[in-house]
Amino acid sequence: MTDFATIRKEFPILDQRIHGHPLVYLDSAATAQKPQCVIDAEAEFYRTINAGVHRGAHELAARSTMAFEEARAKMARLVGANATEGGEEIVVTSGATAGLNLLATAFGNASLGRGGAAAKRFALKPGDEIVVSKAEHHSVLLPFQELAARTGAILKWFDLDDEGRIRSDSADEVITERTRIVAVTHVGNTTGAITDIAPIIRRAHEVGAVFVLDACQSVPHLKVDFHALDVDFAAWSAHKMYGPTGVGFLYGRRDLLEALPPANFGGSMVELAWMDQEAQYMEPPARFEAGTQPVAQVVAAGVAADWLMNIGMERLEAHEKTLTDELLKLGDIEGVRILGPRDNEHRIGTVAFEVDGVHPHDVGQFIDAQGIAIRVGHHCAQPVHRHFGVYASNRASSGVYNAVEDAQALVEAVKQVRPFFGVK
Ligand SMILES: Cc1ncc(COP(=O)(O)O)c(C=O)c1O
Repeated sequence: MTDFATIRKEFPILDQRIHGHPLVYLDSAATAQKPQCVIDAEAEFYRTINAGVHRGAHELAARSTMAFEEARAKMARLVGANATEGGEEIVVTSGATAGLNLLATAFGNASLGRGGAAAKRFALKPGDEIVVSKAEHHSVLLPFQELAARTGAILKWFDLDDEGRIRSDSADEVITERTRIVAVTHVGNTTGAITDIAPIIRRAHEVGAVFVLDACQSVPHLKVDFHALDVDFAAWSAHKMYGPTGVGFLYGRRDLLEALPPANFGGSMVELAWMDQEAQYMEPPARFEAGTQPVAQVVAAGVAADWLMNIGMERLEAHEKTLTDELLKLGDIEGVRILGPRDNEHRIGTVAFEVDGVHPHDVGQFIDAQGIAIRVGHHCAQPVHRHFGVYASNRASSGVYNAVEDAQALVEAVKQVRPFFGVK
């Protein structure tokens, strides 16, 4: 079994100095670095089998189609979805944001009566409710807020507790008989808190609502099984799980995908098109994959999924728990407040913090000068920052390649921030 020190060596980008210091990369929640096998897979695709998928009759097209579909199946295995031909539950998108917008647009189309009787289960009318949470990334909040505005539905949300956890214990009150859609994050991208989604899913299904999971920050860090969780839809991005940028995935339970009307229109998603009649669309997943897909990136994302499964998600989770223990020591520094759970239970190694008296950008610059990369800003999650009474924060986030020494280096650097800026 490869140890984590050896796994780290698979990431060429980490072998460099920044501002004269060895690079410490603690910004994996924004985007993760890529192992050599993922970098190679993309180049190898272009070198050997590049061709349009599901189109040509020539050999290269057959090979690229096979590689594309194999990658879909690998991704399905990683998240506990169906991979059998004709029963696929994974749709290729250009990222989590695209997947969530696809869903919101498709629900909006269903609300206009598109997709026939089968799509009625997704239709919204004035007074219906859509439920999100204050912990959402803007890529969940905004598409569903827009959907509410377009359909006359009411946007409601789960509140957060003092540690920024979604108050799933209020599911019975927040989700009502009028709720049609519930969309929440599996892991907060600011707090690192793992949402207790079971009571939310149970209640959503009790009232006949569709449950959408933002799995962006869970798929790279935790073992997830969408069937076991009874999730209806889930979206995530490849670039946060050590795969390429420009590609993401949308899980949909097969019967739901079959009932969902398309959101994007164009080539490769239609069986029959006429000038004067309505088009006849393909079965999922093709129905949702209009236009040329990022094939090389999908193939490389499949390699990333395999690579993660080879390491073992439970093993990765245990490794990151030791990093989280170290990162949480940030909270022991005088004048530093963690925006999220202080204990290492039901959380991942994404730790946002505020340094009293020093602007987050100054903190970020000071840390960067020591070769340590962390995130600065509101992390596309303004409501959760407002919940903590701040506009912005700093965020350290761990990945498979981090060693305990990386987290220690950050803690030591943060200790110097307030003295450096002369804050008493
Ligand atoms: C929780 C969460 N949801 C959604 C997204 C959006 O992902 P992308 O920008 O890859 O579409 C992010 C990215 O930061 C995220 O952290």
